[in-house]
Amino acid sequence: MGALHLEYTVAPDDFSRAGEVSGIVKRTLKDLGFPPAVVRRTAIAMYEAEINMVIHANGGKITADITPEEIMIVFADQGPGIPDIDLAMQEGWSTASEDIRDMGFGAGMGLPNIQKSTDYMDVQTTVGVGTTITIKIFVTQ
Ligand SMILES: Nc1ncnc2c1ncn2[C@@H]1O[C@H](COP(=O)(O)OP(=O)(O)O)[C@@H](O)[C@H]1O
Ligand SMILES: [Mg+2]
Repeated sequence: MGALHLEYTVAPDDFSRAGEVSGIVKRTLKDLGFPPAVVRRTAIAMYEAEINMVIHANGGKITADITPEEIMIVFADQGPGIPDIDLAMQEGWSTASEDIRDMGFGAGMGLPNIQKSTDYMDVQTTVGVGTTITIKIFVTQ
């Protein structure tokens, strides 16, 4: 395969569709024959970042650049931004409302799980402007 560039829009507050893009990319990677561990790690990180866009940031855009060596995904939103990224990266820390928690989200494990399941994670965030998270998964057999 050569390089593959994919772009998706994540709808705001659409919980019925939350996780849809992650599912599509997971299926694509599987079909392309990437190792199961690479597919799984990408899917975990993508799901968490996609859910965060829905519950914290009014949706956004996801782009995926896939080569045989590396999977890079960028999540860009124009949500409220993250005031304290060190705090947000802590396990169990969440600003999710009671309603969100009742739906099964908001355990505060998303960002730490993205960190754990990727080889590279960069968060650029500005309060009142938005958040862009870049992740990379290096392909190893
Ligand atoms: N895209 C985002 N935009 C704004 N805030 C975010 C975003 N992603 C995460 N956050 C903030 O970081 C916190 C921790 O995120 P996370 O670890 O995924 O936990 P959870 O989503 O369960 O609250 C969130 O509660 C929220 O305050
Ligand atoms: Mg989360």
